[in-house]
Amino acid sequence: MSSIQNSLVTNFLDMEEHHIPDVLVIERDSYGYPWSEKIFYDCINNNYFCKVLVLDNKLIGYLITSIVQNECHIMNLCVKKEYRNFGYGKKILNQLFNDLIKLDCEIIFLECRPSNEQAMKLYSSLGYNEIGKRRNYYPAPNGYEDAIILAKNVKK
Ligand SMILES: CC(C)(COP(=O)(O)OP(=O)(O)OC[C@H]1O[C@@H](n2cnc3c(N)ncnc32)[C@H](O)[C@@H]1OP(=O)(O)O)[C@@H](O)C(=O)NCCC(=O)NCCS
Repeated sequence: MSSIQNSLVTNFLDMEEHHIPDVLVIERDSYGYPWSEKIFYDCINNNYFCKVLVLDNKLIGYLITSIVQNECHIMNLCVKKEYRNFGYGKKILNQLFNDLIKLDCEIIFLECRPSNEQAMKLYSSLGYNEIGKRRNYYPAPNGYEDAIILAKNVKK
């Protein structure tokens, strides 16, 4: 694990189709209800803002957002299991934030399962605030789970 912590050479790159096989391995290992391969192809080909985080030539995380006018909606953020809790999720969100300043974006929205403690802590540590709830938004083992809606202003 120490080599993971010590290695700081990361690149935040546009997601391209050749990244999808690696992305899918992480996606299927991370979510009970993973996105299909087609969704990733569609996001790339419909000009969603799609990024990968590459560490020493290994794809270790990714981000899919939709940016419409001056609003950004985070749709998927994921870090490979063995690289979690080393600051890479924070790094992806900070890179996004810097890119959004350049794009004149004003606000970031996302939904998160309340049961997803790591993600909720990550977002609150970066200043995302709860602004509402969507009832029965996510599929869950015993039915559906609400989503917490979070938002953060992009300050210029
Ligand atoms: C959520 C996720 C992206 C976080 O990525 P990460 O690289 O582990 O996050 P970081 O290491 O940058 O952690 C940032 C903060 O998150 C919190 N955190 C991360 N892992 C945690 C854990 N295992 N337990 C408690 N808090 C945790 C901490 O507050 C941490 O800040 P700190 O180090 O200053 O205390 C990652 O857990 C993941 O990919 N989960 C599966 C997919 C997912 O749920 N995505 C979010 C959907 S809304």
